[in-house]
Formats: sequence, structure tokens, C-alpha cells
Amino acid sequence: MAADVFTLNGRETPFTPGQTILEAAGAAGVRIPTLCHLEGTLPTGACRICVVEVEGARTLLAACTTPAAAGMQVHTESPRVVAARKTILELLLASGNHNCAAVAGDGARWTDFQLRVAQTEKTADLCPAWGDCRLQELAFQYQVHAGTYAPPDAGPDLEDVNPMIVRDLSRCILCGRCVKACNEVQVNKAISFGYRGSRTRIVAAGDRPLIESDCVFCGECVQACPVGALVERKAGYAWRPWKAERIRTTCPYCGVGCQQWLHVQDGKIVKVTGVEEAAPNRGRLCVKGRFGYDFIYSPDRLRTPLIREGEDFREASWDEALDLVAERLKAVIAAHGPDAVAGVSCARSINEDSYQMQKLFRAAIGTNNIDHCART
Ligand code: FES
Repeated sequence: MAADVFTLNGRETPFTPGQTILEAAGAAGVRIPTLCHLEGTLPTGACRICVVEVEGARTLLAACTTPAAAGMQVHTESPRVVAARKTILELLLASGNHNCAAVAGDGARWTDFQLRVAQTEKTADLCPAWGDCRLQELAFQYQVHAGTYAPPDAGPDLEDVNPMIVRDLSRCILCGRCVKACNEVQVNKAISFGYRGSRTRIVAAGDRPLIESDCVFCGECVQACPVGALVERKAGYAWRPWKAERIRTTCPYCGVGCQQWLHVQDGKIVKVTGVEEAAPNRGRLCVKGRFGYDFIYSPDRLRTPLIREGEDFREASWDEALDLVAERLKAVIAAHGPDAVAGVSCARSINEDSYQMQKLFRAAIGTNNIDHCART
């Protein structure tokens, strides 16, 4: 056997030294479920859902923290692994307020639940992450429902005072992805694990609301949350993944060119997320890129050019407005030279448009009086 090869579900599989079993399996197209793993951050092995069976090892090992090694014999879906994952899922479902369909175990209750959901989506029984929840997805995949272990009595643990984010810590599974997203991805260091043992919870600024902490509301934690513990206030119940289409676009704010997914339902943007697999942002967005899309639907938004006439403005066509600007620029340049005019491009323009603007002023008009507005 070659040095950098291990056996994965009976198949010889190459790996790069330093790769974990999870990474090597992913490169070979073998999917191992994860909950706490967050690409680009240090693995913590917190949730254990990625456990695999390694022949000769005393216990099941977390694929996300165990390096692949030559000669290793790994099984990702053996009966022992599946039994362990089922128990882990049962414990997670019993750990908090996971009152989603995964809880409705038998057929009759499942139908009841579906009917209630169809009648009113904004029921207290329905998690806002319904249909977009990794725990729910895995519960279905491994045919697990709650009930084996007694859930806590506590109801929702809502923090509803923040401008963009609603936190319900009763739905939190303590995977720590939000902490990694905040501390390692965005490096804002606003949230962390607090307390100890069974009282452990995610806290900000000594367990105060996000609004009173160093949080900049970039929403990276919301994007990282695999359950319904962190949801966008605006998206909330308004958004259901199976009803929305995803459209990829470039953020309209600064010139960095961050890649976004627009989640569009009934012709309206209901949520924005970062594109994980694309540069330059690799899934990251700032507060404006993630939450600042309301202006699109503002009734105050200018939709046609306006031409000033005395104290008032009147609507005009683009042709009329551009002809007027060209005529006035020509008149000023003819009278006072090209340095008598200047151009200021919008900071929300894409780089290509800003480039064309400076080209127009430098090459066509003949002045270096060109800048862009830094305020967004
Ligand atoms: Fe490996 Fe959570 S994904 S322990």
C-alpha cells in the first residue's frame, strides 16, 4: 500500500498528510455528517456526530479531529457508527426546545403536525429554521425522533431586543459554530461559551444581549448556526427554503465585490447569505451586505432621473438627463477648460463602473479631478 493511502469503507483512498479523516473522505466524495465542524476554523470535536469506526481503535473517533494515517481502516456508516449517531441525535433533540417535526415521532402525530403547519406557519410549535435545520435533516436521515430522553421543562429562551438577530438559546445545541464564526472567521470576539457543565450557554459581554456587547451584527453567527437558535429578525417565519430560489450576485455596497446569495421568495428578497465557496469573502458578509437590502423596496427610492427646475425636480428619461449633463459639461469645459469639472462616482458602484468613470474623466474629458464617495 502506498504511503499516503488509507482504506475508507473498503476502498483504498489517497490523502494528503495533515488531512483529517473528514477532509480526506470529503475529497473522495464520501460524506460524513457534521454539526460543529466549520470550514477554515480549528476543529473542536464538540458534537461527535462525525464519529467513524477505525479498526483497532478502542472507541469511535471523531472524523473532524482525527488525522488520516496510512494503513488506517475506516468505516463511516457501520452499525456501531449508526447506533452512536442515533443516540447523539436523540440526546441533542432532548437537550432543548427542538419542537420541530423531528419530535413528532409516530405517523398520526406527524400528519397532525403537517396540517397545523399548513394552517399557520407562525405557530409556536414551528421553529423558524424549519426546513433549514441541520439537526432536523440528520434526524430524518437517521430516522430518529425525540422522546427517548426527557427534554428540559424550559420553554423558549428568547433574546428579542437586538436589531437584526433573534436568539433563542433553548434551541442551541452548543456546537460552537457561532463562537468559531465570531472569533476565528470574523475575529470580532463578541461571543463565547459561558458558565460551566449543564449550565453552559453562549454568552456575549458577560451574558448580556448582543446589542450591549462588541457585536457588530455581521450575522456570521446566524449563517453558521445549524439549528434555529440564531435567526434573522427580518427573515424569521417569512422565509421557507423550499419556497425560495437562490440567486447569486455581487454585494452592491463597497467595491470589494463580496459574493452573495439572494434568497428570493415571491419575487422579493427575504434573506441574504454569503457564498461560502467563492472569493473574495468565502461566505463572510458585513452588516450592510447581509441585512441592508431594505432600500430596494423603499418607496423613497429614486427610480428615474430627476432634473432640477428652479426649486423643484421633475422626472426625466435617461436620454434626456444624459444629454443635459453632456451639454452642460461641454459648455463648462469650452469656457474654463477640463479642470473646471470634476466627477464623483458612487461608492456602491462596482469596480468596473468606477474604472469606466475615471476613464471617462481622464481620457475623454482630460482631467484628473475624479474621486468616489466613501460614505455608503
Ligand atoms: Fe466532528 Fe462535531 S463535526 S465532532
